[in-house]
Amino acid sequence: MSRISLTRYLVEEQRQRGSIPADLRLLLEVVSRACKAIANAVNKGALAGVLGSAESGNIQGEKQQKLDLIANEVLLDANELGGNLAAMASEEMDSFYEIPHRYPMGEYLLLFDPLDGSSNVDVNVSIGTIFSVLKKPLGSDAVSEADFLQSGQHQVAAGYAVYGPQTTLVLTVGNGVQCFTLDREAGSFVLTQKNVRIPEDTQEFAINMSNMRHWDQPIKRYINECLAGEEGPRQKNFNMRWVASMVADVQRILTRGGIFMYPWDKRTPDRAGKLRLLYEANPMSLLIEQAGGLATTGQERILDVVPHALHQRISVILGSKNEVTRVARYYKEKENTYATPQI
Ligand code: AHG
Ligand code: MN
Ligand code: MN
Repeated sequence: MSRISLTRYLVEEQRQRGSIPADLRLLLEVVSRACKAIANAVNKGALAGVLGSAESGNIQGEKQQKLDLIANEVLLDANELGGNLAAMASEEMDSFYEIPHRYPMGEYLLLFDPLDGSSNVDVNVSIGTIFSVLKKPLGSDAVSEADFLQSGQHQVAAGYAVYGPQTTLVLTVGNGVQCFTLDREAGSFVLTQKNVRIPEDTQEFAINMSNMRHWDQPIKRYINECLAGEEGPRQKNFNMRWVASMVADVQRILTRGGIFMYPWDKRTPDRAGKLRLLYEANPMSLLIEQAGGLATTGQERILDVVPHALHQRISVILGSKNEVTRVARYYKEKENTYATPQI
């Protein structure tokens, strides 16, 4: 069978299924081109002098890596002139970027984490780019922050690229999840996994265990039960993985199931979590749900959360349906008494 490129997939989505309009198709093409350019920079690494940290920090108080800034610029440059966007917002920019008046203005808003997994840049471990597309609400021509503050269920497309042993692009336009692999010689993304489905059960969890003492009781309960293995209440052994790049952890979950958690913890009680709702949690939650999984804060579905700020953070628990349901149940039962096993 002939190979299906990303371009062909998108054209067919537009013309045959009518699931996306032409301007969204073109926008997604541009985002994928930007990801190819970022993949090239990542690939060259030290040869291109792109490793190491920058002098600056972002508005969230995190130190920026050179590649955080490079990836951000690549995405801005590629997308500002296409005519399909009204504005862009990024984890690495204080405020949103309105398309300059010299370019035509489109109907969409693009949000991104230009480089996810910054702590892995210098150690040659998979990193990636996460993106989300919203429609700008009708009304005034001028863009305001409020335009971006839509719950995740309003996303018209979401996806991520992983720069790992292969460069892959995972995409949803609300019509299932498709995975494309970059063919470097041909210079195009090729469809390699159609309609990805996450197994409903799993024996693998992903969480930063070093934070255990800070977690809330339901998370401690869940993980302790996993750790108890065959002898514990779950009566089966669990395996643990933590890449510390959400893109790679989510890629694994889409491939073979699992649960990923970055919950609220007591280190920063006033902060809802570590991950960013608009640039990380929402696009990943849409992909996970589109692949048959679930995504929750513990208390509510992530895609239902109405944002109040661009850089808002949130507690994230996502992956295989039956495990996420179990964690949500543990939150519900929090009021009931149970002994949390301590390790
Ligand atoms: P970013 O590099 O965009 O700031 O995101 C890193 C995120 C996420 O990718 C990962 O799951 C998590 O932070 C890792 O956190 P720890 O270093 O606390 O494990
Ligand atoms: Mn990130
Ligand atoms: Mn980032």
